[in-house]
Amino acid sequence: MIAYIEDIARHDGQAVTLRGWLHNRRSSGKIHFLTLRDGTGFIQCVMTKQAVGDDAFMRADHLAQESAIVVDGTVRADQRAPGGYEVDVARLEIVSESLNYPITPKEHGVDFLMDRRHLWIRAPRQQAILRIRHEVIDAVRDFFNARGFILADTPIFTPAACEGTTTLFPVQYFDEETAYLTQSGQLYNEANAMALGRVYCFGPTFRAEKSKTRRHLTEFWMVEPEMAYADLEEVMNLAEALVVHVVERVLRTRRRELAVLERDIAKLERVKAPFPRLSYDAAAKLLKEKGLPFEWGGDFGAPDETAISEQFDRPVCVHRYPSAIKAFYMKPDPARPDVALCVDVLAPEGYGEIIGGGQRIDDYDLLLQRIKEHNLPQEAFEWYLDLRRYGSVPHGGFGMGIERVVTWICGIDHLREAIPYPRMLYRIYP
Ligand code: 4AD
Ligand code: MG
Repeated sequence: MIAYIEDIARHDGQAVTLRGWLHNRRSSGKIHFLTLRDGTGFIQCVMTKQAVGDDAFMRADHLAQESAIVVDGTVRADQRAPGGYEVDVARLEIVSESLNYPITPKEHGVDFLMDRRHLWIRAPRQQAILRIRHEVIDAVRDFFNARGFILADTPIFTPAACEGTTTLFPVQYFDEETAYLTQSGQLYNEANAMALGRVYCFGPTFRAEKSKTRRHLTEFWMVEPEMAYADLEEVMNLAEALVVHVVERVLRTRRRELAVLERDIAKLERVKAPFPRLSYDAAAKLLKEKGLPFEWGGDFGAPDETAISEQFDRPVCVHRYPSAIKAFYMKPDPARPDVALCVDVLAPEGYGEIIGGGQRIDDYDLLLQRIKEHNLPQEAFEWYLDLRRYGSVPHGGFGMGIERVVTWICGIDHLREAIPYPRMLYRIYP
């Protein structure tokens, strides 16, 4: 029976066929210990000369890392084995050999590994991260689908900026026009919310940021919910519930992967509602008290975000940033128009911003004024202004960066490992 390593416990005592690749091999004279990986896990296969015969035994002796192999054998529970099971090999088929696989168990530099990202993803840690990424994405979809949000896709080719004009990737769109790769689906999401009530979009997002930090990719995945008839409070509640749901799911279903990454589970277990909520003013005061050189009116840098999040054992919602440093569409607080009804969620342990969003301007005149102040081409935003002409309502939403969340949950250092093929300032290969 064909089996997968992740289900091996169900096959205790049975004869199975495992199809995969040789991850590692040790030999002690009459026994080969082959670590097989099949994409779902790793398992030790024990091969004796007696069981497979001299010929097969000798061929296995020269088998190199990443050779494709099929193993027939019997599953046996073994307390000492990493996954609790081993396989006693009855037959080994070599599907294809692998010569001089470049990534060996010894240490390699990051550039070396990044140049071989298409192979590096076979490594146990990388597989664990990508499985957790899958779980995060699945949990996000379940969260919104279960709450009646409608998935409505937004375009990737767009005629105008959403998040400021400095980080746009231009694309030649046939003869005349320049299009831009989307920075956010938000503006279209707002139109979709006026049609469908509560919506989300989930897709790749592009930022031509010249930043070389470990938190920035030029192509990343963002999930963006948007709700008609919602205020900042509701946006914060939704963001909090989403983060709690995602972390809870990974803790429940991806223990093994978190263990591979040696993640401190206790820190994730503390991610429970309610999250502390802090105004920008209060955060600025806190930074001053901590002796950081921060002035009211500026945006938080990575060290500032770390200093703020250090105060708490779970994510923190920082709200009401100065309007001047935020996007054109942010609604000013009626009680204090110099700050916007916006929120950033900062992850604990210094992982920084994972969510940004808030309430949108619903007044036509003010929105038009902001478009002009930001020197945005009004023609390109006429459709967006229509949403304020025809039945405008208070509304809001946010964007959550998947790689930021995966990086934090996995407890890894850099966003580049949180996506199969990272795109960065100096990297577009492979
Ligand atoms: O804060 P941002 O720029 O917000 C928006 O784009 C809004 N229009 C979203 C909305 O309200 N619908 O980006 C949202 C999130 C950030 O909090 C971060 O998690 C992620 O997207 N992000 C990045 N992730 C990786 N690399 C980058 N260069 C990122 N820029 C933003
Ligand atoms: Mg932001």
